Amino acid sequence: MAACDHEPKAKRLTNKPTFDQAFRDKLEELVLMRRDVRHFTSRKVPDEIVERCLNLACRAPSVGHSQPWRIVKVQDPVRRDAIIENFEQANAQALQNYEGTTAEAYSRLKLAGLRDADVHIAFFADMNADTGKGLGSNSMTETKLYSVVSAIQILWLALRAHGIGLGWVSILDPDRIARDLDVAPDWVFVGYLCIGYPVEETDTPELVKAGWQDRLPLTDLILER
Ligand SMILES: Cc1cc2nc3c(=O)[nH]c(=O)nc-3n(C[C@H](O)[C@H](O)[C@H](O)COP(=O)(O)O)c2cc1C
Repeated sequence: MAACDHEPKAKRLTNKPTFDQAFRDKLEELVLMRRDVRHFTSRKVPDEIVERCLNLACRAPSVGHSQPWRIVKVQDPVRRDAIIENFEQANAQALQNYEGTTAEAYSRLKLAGLRDADVHIAFFADMNADTGKGLGSNSMTETKLYSVVSAIQILWLALRAHGIGLGWVSILDPDRIARDLDVAPDWVFVGYLCIGYPVEETDTPELVKAGWQDRLPLTDLILER
């Protein structure tokens, strides 16, 4: 199905939107119930929902309107296996950074749902694309990467609104990903996303449940100057 089949309806764009309190409450619930998901059921994710959510993701803000996101749907089982191997090696290496009880706690964490997720999508940033003519990114080239993260965040919430979970995997060797997915040399890897229906719905991050890291209070994070 062509991506444009899922473009938001023009009617929606011209009508004055009504974001009432009921909508705001739901939006808050969506944000609070978004989770990083590593446990997926075997239920298939409909292609049209993925396309629709990817279309929304491409409406994310981007520096200079550069739209630097490049999206790879990883469907080939051989390539998926290569990603799993990449993760397993990177995760074993990451474990070496911890000692004692922290190392034990790390080794108990499930840090990717690569084997169960129905849909695998890799996001890259095309750092040399001249879309947007460099506006906003001349002194901060990393703003292209931030733009791709914005798109991923929209995808995450849009999928969640359909009851679908997303797990972001970053415990990977990015050069190997680029090779295994055979992408252009100037694409920088941003994130590998596992997508599927979650086993559970919860408002508590897995790393909080596992005692790895608690949530910080807002007051610890804001300075006034
Ligand atoms: C840039 C980025 C990279 C991440 N990489 C991983 C990862 O490799 N493995 C993992 O289990 N979770 C990963 N996560 C998910 C975080 O662990 C998760 O967002 C955090 O624990 C809070 O949980 P929540 O998303 O359910 O609120 C990543 C999240 C972000 C934003």
